[in-house]
Amino acid sequence: MRKRKLTIEYTDYFSVEEMEPQDQELVAAAIEAQKGSYSPYSHFRVGAALRLEDGTIIKGANQENNAYPAGLCAERTAMFAAGANYPDKAFDTLAIVGSDGNGICDNPATPCGECRQVMAEYQTKGKRPLKVILVGAKKIQKFEKVDDILPFIFDSLKSGEIF
Ligand code: THU
Repeated sequence: MRKRKLTIEYTDYFSVEEMEPQDQELVAAAIEAQKGSYSPYSHFRVGAALRLEDGTIIKGANQENNAYPAGLCAERTAMFAAGANYPDKAFDTLAIVGSDGNGICDNPATPCGECRQVMAEYQTKGKRPLKVILVGAKKIQKFEKVDDILPFIFDSLKSGEIF
């Protein structure tokens, strides 16, 4: 046997101005996307903005339902809209932000496991790393690939390492 250690690298930004202009634009789009949140049950407004390889930005927001499991997270509404409308475009970067009654939460929004799995699928489909930006009021975290928020990805499409 051997014991192993996994290291995950990511960047903390303490203001959006520290980010590259393209990332600043994506964060602004995710904040804007929160306007589309339909969240009468949780009152938690989540916005997502996805940049495709050609620069197109697709927005998504959480959509809730009286029959709870029928709703969908912001990230998946953006990813599925992009997958459906731009099936040949790889995903480049996904930004996510959440607000409660007091505005954008201090801590960065953390995607649920199902959303991470969906990110992993599109990362594999696009054959390139999908970057993830988690936005909080006090801190913004950037991950260079989905693997960094979903280690040991279940990925039946993967035939050997692609990165
Ligand atoms: N939600 C998202 O949209 N994205 C996440 O990453 C976590 C949770 C939504 C689902 C539900 O509408 C609300 O936030 C409360 O869980």
